[in-house]
Amino acid sequence: MSLRLGDIAPDFTADTTQGKINFHEWLGDSWGMLFSHPADFTPVCTTELGKTALLKGDFERRGVKTIAVSVDDLESHNKWIPDIEEVNGVTMNFPIIADEDRKVAELYDMIHPNASAKATVRSVFIIGPDKTIKLMLTYPASTGRNFTELLRVIDSLQLTANHSVATPADWKDGDDAIVVPTISTEDAIKKFPKGVKEVKPYLRYTPQPNK
Ligand code: BEZ
Repeated sequence: MSLRLGDIAPDFTADTTQGKINFHEWLGDSWGMLFSHPADFTPVCTTELGKTALLKGDFERRGVKTIAVSVDDLESHNKWIPDIEEVNGVTMNFPIIADEDRKVAELYDMIHPNASAKATVRSVFIIGPDKTIKLMLTYPASTGRNFTELLRVIDSLQLTANHSVATPADWKDGDDAIVVPTISTEDAIKKFPKGVKEVKPYLRYTPQPNK
């Protein structure tokens, strides 16, 4: 059965480039980003893994652990890592799962047979500290992901998890947020001391409450 938002992220034990891990134990109380790669020694993946390593500080500031999965074995991953490091001028600083038996790829439905019978698509799962899936994205193998967008969406997920707000189109950290429709404007004025601007009775903005 395919996964849906709110489902518990399936747990697994796997070999990675940083040793054997149990996924839920490895996550601990952190947020997590599990993202798949069609194969080792492929050009787009080489840029994506390097970018993730370069952004380690940005993920850490948000309390997010990153972990990649590719359906190749550990020996292949370990041979590929020097290329990733050289091309991107970075030291690899997060694990890549060796998924040669496709256990993780199948658990997370990362192989879409009409796209490719063997390789995974570019899936992204953002997982909350409660181990539930907060966001899923699927890109084809030919399109590298936008890491500015991944960080932006994590900011929105973390804001909206803790405050009664949603985020509008193209929102980014620091912009005004939208008061959720379940709160009346009268209650919103009490709840959001920085102010509430009513554009429509159902569209109310408030300055970002966690800033
Ligand atoms: C890549 O990972 O670089 C890639 C995979 C399939 C098609 C095109 C690029």
